[in-house]
Amino acid sequence: MNTEILTIDDKSLMLAEKIIKGGGVVAFPTETVYGLAANAYDTAAVESIFAIKGRPNDNPLIVHVHEEYDISSLVSYIPEYAKLLAKAFLPGPLTMVYKSRCTVSTAVSCGGDTLAIRIPSHEGAQRFLKHVGLPIAAPSANVSKHVSPVTAIHVFDDLNGKIPLILDGGKCSGGIESTVLDCTGEVPCVLRSGLVTRDMIAAVAGSCDEYVLKDGERVRSPGIKYKHYSPKCQTALFDYDDRQSAFSLYKEKENAGVKVWLMCDSGVADESGCANVLDFGETEYEIAANLYDKLREGEQVAELIIAVAPKKQDGVMVGVMNRLKKACG
Ligand code: TXA
Ligand code: MG
Repeated sequence: MNTEILTIDDKSLMLAEKIIKGGGVVAFPTETVYGLAANAYDTAAVESIFAIKGRPNDNPLIVHVHEEYDISSLVSYIPEYAKLLAKAFLPGPLTMVYKSRCTVSTAVSCGGDTLAIRIPSHEGAQRFLKHVGLPIAAPSANVSKHVSPVTAIHVFDDLNGKIPLILDGGKCSGGIESTVLDCTGEVPCVLRSGLVTRDMIAAVAGSCDEYVLKDGERVRSPGIKYKHYSPKCQTALFDYDDRQSAFSLYKEKENAGVKVWLMCDSGVADESGCANVLDFGETEYEIAANLYDKLREGEQVAELIIAVAPKKQDGVMVGVMNRLKKACG
């Protein structure tokens, strides 16, 4: 199969619609990462997403809809706090899990009785979703376990020959996947950290829990149990306070002839004296936006990436550290 990359316009949107309505899949941009889209009502199309990605079949997909879509056809109960959260943060990088009406294919939720809904803010994503008009099941558009894609080229690198079309909406501004929030209980509960932080949610909803997997317990968001975000080279991760050890390891490997790159924020980059640096910027939003891009850039050139964790560990950095540990830990 030939994989086309097209910028988003009326012509490419018509082609995307034709592919989706014909049971095929299309990659599209969102403000977090690129997604791999299929009609959520079409079981064969949804199943093909799992096959194309090599995704475990117990890890449910998020359903994406445009901002004017009435989700009451998809989910059966929306608590008051969820309405407040939707008003505050949507469209945006917050996925909300509700009781499902089971109207979309059961393949989306892997047979479960809940459904994750996301309304992305990316202009191209909104155009795509409005044009197609259907609820769209979409995971990140990478091969399972690899680093999530934040450019059309990243999608192409992973899925060339396996999908017909990538809608190119530029580099994703957010850079890490959406916050996944369980809205089925009395209090919302963060299942996956992201740019909408637990504190931001608590400020609107009154309180917010965070899911921690306990021994022997059934996983509420299967995605969190899998290895993820791994670049195709060796990696090491050091705490900010232990950065001198990272610099020493870098020198040692460099002297041994290893192609080694240091991945860190701008401050640490300046301090390190290392020649090969993957600099993910200064602010927490810059670091989130550049994380996957730098991991993908690094795996192209490095045999070993030595990452130094940012100093700040709260807020958006909870989500960044979660990914950094899975990628480099
Ligand atoms: O930012 C994002 O969320 C991106 C873009 C494309 O929208 N999508 C994304 O999808 O990251 P994926 O499939 O890579 O991750 C979806 C996560 C997984 O951890 C999955 O377990 C969880 O959402 N999830 C999906 N449906 C769920 C449900 N009904 N209950 C609990 N967790 C669910
Ligand atoms: Mg993913």
